[in-house]
This record gives sequence, structure tokens and C-alpha cells, in this order.
Amino acid sequence: MPLFLLFLLMALPAASQTSQPRAAPPGDPVRGLALLTNFRDSLPRHSGNGLRCVSCHLENGTRASAMPWLGSVTRYPRFRARPGYEETMERRVNECIARSLAGRMLHEDSREMRDMVAYLETLRDRPRPSGVDTVRLAGNVARGRRTYAGTCARCHGPNGQGLPTGPALWGTGSFSIGAGMARQSLFATFVRHNMPFDHAVTLTDQQAADVAAFVLVQPRQDHPGKERDWPKGDAPADIAYATTGTRAAGRTVPPARPLLRRRVAPDSLAPMPARRTP
Ligand code: HEC
Ligand code: HEC
Repeated sequence: MPLFLLFLLMALPAASQTSQPRAAPPGDPVRGLALLTNFRDSLPRHSGNGLRCVSCHLENGTRASAMPWLGSVTRYPRFRARPGYEETMERRVNECIARSLAGRMLHEDSREMRDMVAYLETLRDRPRPSGVDTVRLAGNVARGRRTYAGTCARCHGPNGQGLPTGPALWGTGSFSIGAGMARQSLFATFVRHNMPFDHAVTLTDQQAADVAAFVLVQPRQDHPGKERDWPKGDAPADIAYATTGTRAAGRTVPPARPLLRRRVAPDSLAPMPARRTP
């Protein structure tokens, strides 16, 4: 008998006796919420801008009009068209870290990830609110500049750099071009229903669309690998960059936007293989 087979036979019973790798201890939702609300201070190596998760997911992810996390964990893993594969909840969180926080992804089994997901788990049984009306209008940059100066600059700064009263809306302190918030309709819809922070729901749809158009042509951090998004060529019309899929489908690519060098590399950009259940 070849020596390696003998070795294998001897090793087999031992291997079957060793228990499965010990399951990681459950995450701590209290610590998770602390990370979601203090991301930059808690995880400086993973943060690439001045935002925290709850800068967009307002009221700790419970405000219906601000991309709520209510019931989110029940929707994952699910196929998403942007990456083009089935995404786990951990991977979805990492997408927001890499794009919305222009940061570096966490290990999916790290304590920090488990804690954040444990917080999302506390919202599992909360009913998912029906979506708010989407603002689909095209915006006018010149009008948006005036709305910005009159309505937003007092909190977000005249140059979008952010102030103690409101985070950055462009420049190195803001979300990257690969973020959902960098889409015209998502930005306009968020602003229409949630901004100005102290007088929400005072702008018209057109004003929200105009201010979105103005903010989104300002420079912001790049998201390397963005051309691989929507690999099937089904990218929505309001994203701010060309993808290989869009080109291959013969669709018009959006005009290039001014980009700033990335402060922190996203790290794990390789497409994730689809998770197959045996
Ligand atoms: C710049 C704004 C912004 C920031 C900051 C941000 N997100 Fe998001 N997030 C979004 C947008 C936009 C979506 C997509 C909503 C949609 O598809 O309609 C989203 C979606 C999600 C989803 C999917 C929810 C679902 O039900 O499918 C999760 C989970 C999530 N974000 C977690 C996080 C976490 C955790 C952080 C911090 C590490 C974070 N986000 C930071 C804007 C942001
Ligand atoms: C009274 C101050 C105030 C005004 C005025 C205001 N915001 Fe905000 N904005 C905030 C605060 C506070 C947050 C959430 C910050 C947090 O919790 O980290 C926020 C968050 C945001 C976000 C998500 C986070 C980010 O920085 O990307 C966007 C986008 C935004 N505001 C756009 C606008 C626009 C556009 C206007 C003008 C129409 C506006 N805001 C007016 C205070 C303000």
C-alpha cells in the first residue's frame, strides 16, 4: 500500500473525532451599534471618510425614509445585480464600508462584523416599511448650486467639506463614486424625504433633484473596480460611471466625473463566488 494511503487511513478516524471548527461566539449588538455610530473613531484603519453608518441610515437604521435596516437580515443572502452574485449580509455591510465609507472591508468573521450584524439582527422582526416615493426627475446643476448655498451650506459647509453640524457631501470626507448615494435618484430621494435635517420634507421633488445634480458633479473619492459593477449590462441609468457591462450592451455611458485618489484601498474587490447550498 502506498505510504500516503496508509497515512490517510490512520488519520481518518482521528479527523472524524475532532469536532467541527468551533462556531464563533455570537456578536454583541450593543457593541455593534457603537461601531455603526462611531465607525471612524472605532475602526480608523477601515474608514476612508468622515461618515458613519448612521449618517445615512438615520435613527440607527429605523427611519423608514432613510434606507431602513428594519427586517433587512431576512432578505439575505440574496442575488444583487450590482455585484452580479448572491450576497451575504456580511458582504452587503462590506459593500457599504468600501463604497459609502470609502473604506477597507472587514473580515466577514471578524468580531466587529459579527457585532454589527448582531445589531441588524435585533431589527429582524420589525416590519419592513413600504418604500418612499422615488424622485426620478433630472436635475439642473445651476439651480442646484443656488439651492445648496441657500439650504444646505449652513450645515454641510460652503464647499461641501462638512461642518460639526453636518458631514461632508463631496471631497475626501464624503462617500465614494461607487456608493448608492452617488446615484442621482437615490441622493435626490434621500434629500427629498430627510433634508434639511431640521426641516425635512420642505423641498420640492425638483429642488431635491437639482441639488443632487449639483452635489454629484463635484469631485469625490474613486472606487477602484467600479467598472465591474452590473456585469450583465443592466446598470441603472443614473449611476455616475461607465461599466464594462454597459459598454458591452452598447448602451450610452455617462460622462466622466472628477475623481479624487482613494485614501484607503477597499482591499477585497475580487468578485465573490456565488454561495451554493449543497
Ligand atoms: C453615504 C450613505 C451611506 C452610508 C454612510 C452607509 N450606507 Fe448602507 N446603504 C446606503 C444606501 C444608499 C443603500 C442602498 C439602499 C437601496 O438599495 O435602496 C444602503 C444599503 C445598506 C444595506 C442593505 C439593506 C437592505 O435591506 O438590503 C445595509 C445592510 C447597509 N447599507 C449597511 C450599512 C452599514 C453597516 C454601514 C456602515 C458600515 C453603512 N451601510 C453606511 C447608504 C449608506
Ligand atoms: C440643520 C443642518 C442640516 C442641513 C440644513 C442639511 N443637512 Fe444634510 N445632514 C445633516 C445631519 C446632522 C446629517 C446626519 C449626520 C450624522 O448623523 O452623521 C445629514 C446627512 C446628510 C446626508 C447623508 C450623509 C452624507 O454626508 O452623505 C446627505 C446626502 C445630506 N445630509 C444632504 C443634504 C442636503 C443636500 C441638504 C440641503 C438640501 C442638507 N443635507 C441640509 C444636517 C443638515
